[in-house]
Amino acid sequence: MPNQLTFPKDFIWGAATASYQIEGAWNEDGKGESIWDRFTHTPGKIKDGSTGDVACDHYHRWHDDIKIMQQLGLHAYRFSIAWPRLLPTGRGTVNQPGIDFYSRLVDALLEAGITPFVTLYHWELPQPLQDEGGWANRATAEVFLEYVDLASRTLGDRVKNWITQNEPAVTQYAGYFNGEHAPGLKDPRAALQVSHHLLLSHGWAVPIIRQNSPGSEVGITLNIGYAQPASPSPEDQRATRIANAFMANWYLHPLYGHKYPSDAIDVMVKSNQLPGPILDYIQPGDMQAIAVPTDFLGINYYSRHIVRAEDIPEDQNQPRTVFPAPKTPENWMDNGWEIYPDGLYQILTYLHSNYPIPKLYITENGAAYSTPPAADGHVPDVHRTNYLRTHFAAAHRAIQDGVPLRGYFVWSLMDNFEWAEGFTQRFGIIWVDYATQQRILKDSAIWFNQVIKNNSFEG
Ligand code: GCO
Repeated sequence: MPNQLTFPKDFIWGAATASYQIEGAWNEDGKGESIWDRFTHTPGKIKDGSTGDVACDHYHRWHDDIKIMQQLGLHAYRFSIAWPRLLPTGRGTVNQPGIDFYSRLVDALLEAGITPFVTLYHWELPQPLQDEGGWANRATAEVFLEYVDLASRTLGDRVKNWITQNEPAVTQYAGYFNGEHAPGLKDPRAALQVSHHLLLSHGWAVPIIRQNSPGSEVGITLNIGYAQPASPSPEDQRATRIANAFMANWYLHPLYGHKYPSDAIDVMVKSNQLPGPILDYIQPGDMQAIAVPTDFLGINYYSRHIVRAEDIPEDQNQPRTVFPAPKTPENWMDNGWEIYPDGLYQILTYLHSNYPIPKLYITENGAAYSTPPAADGHVPDVHRTNYLRTHFAAAHRAIQDGVPLRGYFVWSLMDNFEWAEGFTQRFGIIWVDYATQQRILKDSAIWFNQVIKNNSFEG
């Protein structure tokens, strides 16, 4: 029996994007080079050889894109600022056209009745800072504050929702451990320093934002993987605890006033990869700075990880996902991620019961399906609609159980540049024809519009 699921009054329905994935205009109007410009311009790094040089051309089409958001009925829009658009070399000289771009975007959003949620760092480090060591260099966290100060001073009168860092674990792991993302390094020791400096940059940024943007709310967005043991064996259960320590608690513990998780540290100490002291980069006062109180936690959720003991050899710090059969589009996205809505419920309730989090947002959730437009012009992306329906239902269940979830941002507003996957994966609820830059609302967007209108849906 279908069941009408109604969300709390004032629940915020939104959609999310990131600057590099949609803006294009990579070297226009004074923008400096970012690590993603450098990475995508290096042959062999991106699956289809593509770059974000043009992407969705949002830098020129933002006005029309806001009209589409209005058509969708969005309450809020989460986007990120490209640091090198504001400060082309990371620090020092300010690029006024960059500020003007985001300022106009914010004004137009507010005029359209859409609340901006701004992510300050969604991976676009200015290349000159990478040349000085990037996030492995503690000084980068200090330079970040100059950028945060500029962004929050110039936009903070109108932007009242700020996210400092997006998915620091991905920068740590994909950027510095397996090298699949910019800057493409494979350096386990640097990866650890990166995680600390990203957290530190968050902790230091919060008071600056609060001062420049009175009455605003500030938080951080984490990707919390949901790990489950492949079997009830004690070995698999232990491996799962370790996977969770790396995927979730490594960030949650320090943010909420604890030390880095000791089970994760034990694994690293026993491994041969990191001989010698491993947390020697922590300085007095760092852990207090990281644990600065925040207003919300953003979580990005897509899939789950099934963990087996053999996935956690003592020299490796991330689990491998094993795929249970059968592989159908109902159960699997185009990019090979399993669909597991209950993981979202589990994560939300886990966070609520284990950490003093005042409120939560789902800052990203969505699915990769390439369903193209049909002959009649519609985009019949039924699998995406089902994905959203089942995940909205999981979120609803968590709210019923007392989780202070206040909003939900679908990833993504439109098809875009999917990092190392290039344009091979489409996560949008809006179809983008990259040759013409035409946008088409997919059927999932039309369904989402109804959900927003009614603040409820049939689960
Ligand atoms: C993020 C995410 C997005 C991705 C999405 C689909 O870091 O916030 O990586 O940018 O496009 O998660 O993979």
